[in-house]
Amino acid sequence: MTSTFPALLIRDEVLGSHRVSLTDMEPSELMDGEVEVAVRYSSLNYKDALGITGSGRVLRRSPLVGGIDAAGEVLSAAEDSGLKAGDPVLVTGCGLGEIHHGGFAGRIRVPADWVVPVPKGLDLRQSMILGTAGFTAALALQRLRANDQDPGMGPILVTGASGGVGSLAVSLLAAQGYEVVALSGKTRQHDWLKSLGAVKVMDRRGLSQGWRPLETARWAGAVDTVGGEILGWLTRTVDEWGNIVTIGLAGGAELRTTVMPFILRGVSLLGVSSSNYPTERRAAVWAHLATDWAIPHLDDIVTEEIGLEGLESASKRMLAGDVHGRILVDLQR
Ligand SMILES: NC(=O)c1ccc[n+]([C@@H]2O[C@H](COP(=O)([O-])OP(=O)(O)OC[C@H]3O[C@@H](n4cnc5c(N)ncnc54)[C@H](OP(=O)(O)O)[C@@H]3O)[C@@H](O)[C@H]2O)c1
Repeated sequence: MTSTFPALLIRDEVLGSHRVSLTDMEPSELMDGEVEVAVRYSSLNYKDALGITGSGRVLRRSPLVGGIDAAGEVLSAAEDSGLKAGDPVLVTGCGLGEIHHGGFAGRIRVPADWVVPVPKGLDLRQSMILGTAGFTAALALQRLRANDQDPGMGPILVTGASGGVGSLAVSLLAAQGYEVVALSGKTRQHDWLKSLGAVKVMDRRGLSQGWRPLETARWAGAVDTVGGEILGWLTRTVDEWGNIVTIGLAGGAELRTTVMPFILRGVSLLGVSSSNYPTERRAAVWAHLATDWAIPHLDDIVTEEIGLEGLESASKRMLAGDVHGRILVDLQR
C-alpha cells in the first residue's frame, strides 16, 4: 500500500517566482507534530486565495503546502494528547498553511494543541463548511455579546455579506435573534442573502457615505469583513454604545475616522483574530457552533465543492469577486 498523498505545494521563493503545483508527498516530508490526520475536507478562505495566487504575503516559508483549514480522522497521536486513531478532528489557523504544511493535502502532522475534536452535532463536512470563516463569525458573535450588543438595540449591518465570513455571519446573527441588514456588491445574491436571514440587503455600490465625523446613526452595530472606506463609514453611522467587529480587509486596510464616534457615542471597535485565538479556548467556541450557535443554512452556504486541482482557478475567481458563500475542498474528489 502506498503511503504517498496528494498536496498543493506553493513556492514563493523569490519575488516574481510564485508557483503552485499538485504533487505527491511522503509522510516523512511533513513537519513535526504529535498528531497525524488523514484530511477529508478543507475549505478555501480569502487568505488561502491570496497565498495561492501570490497576491498577498501569506506564506512565511517556502515551499509550503497551502490551506489554513483541515478536518479528518486521526491516524496517530501522542499518548498524552487525549486523541486516538479514528477520532474526527479539525484544525483552523494556528499557522497551518502559513508556517506549517497545511490542509490542502491528504495528510497533516501538527502540534496536539492545534487540534480540536469535532464536537457532537457536527460532521467533518459541516465543520469545513464552517472552517475559519464560521469560527470567525462565532468569535464576532462572542465579542458582540461580551460587549452587551443586545438584539433589542436594533439592526446589525454585515458587510461583504455574500462572502464566506459574511454569509455565515448573516445566518448566525439572524438565528440569534438579531435584525440583520446585509451590505453586498452582488445584486444577484440579494435574494439568497434574504433566504439566509437578512431582513434587508443594500447595494454597496453607490452607497452614500457622508464625511462628517458623525453622520445620522443607522446601525445598532456591525460586523465588517471589508475594512477601508466602509469601516470608516461604519464608525460614523453606528448608534450610541453600539459595537463594530472588524474582521477583514477585502476593501482596504486603511481606517479613516475621528475619535468622535468613540467619545461622543460610546461606540466600540472590537477586533477578531481567529488564527491566533488561544488554543485552550477553541473547543468551547466549536461546541457553541455545534449546539446553541448552530448555523442553520450550511447546505445553502456551501456553493461549490472542489478537489485540489480546482483551487487555483477558484482562488482567482474569489479575488475577482466572482464567488459567493463557501467553497468546500473535498480531498477524495
Ligand atoms: N480576522 C480574522 O480572523 C479573519 C478570519 C477570516 C477572514 N478574515 C478576512 O475577512 C475577509 C473576508 O474573508 P472571506 O474568506 O469571507 O472572503 P470572501 O469569501 O472572498 O468574502 C469577501 C467579500 O468581501 C466583499 N468584497 C470583496 N472585495 C471587495 C472590495 N474591493 N470592496 C468591498 N467589498 C469587497 C465581497 O462581498 P460582497 O460582494 O457581498 O460585498 C466578498 O464576497 C478577508 O479580508 C479575510 O482576510 C479575517
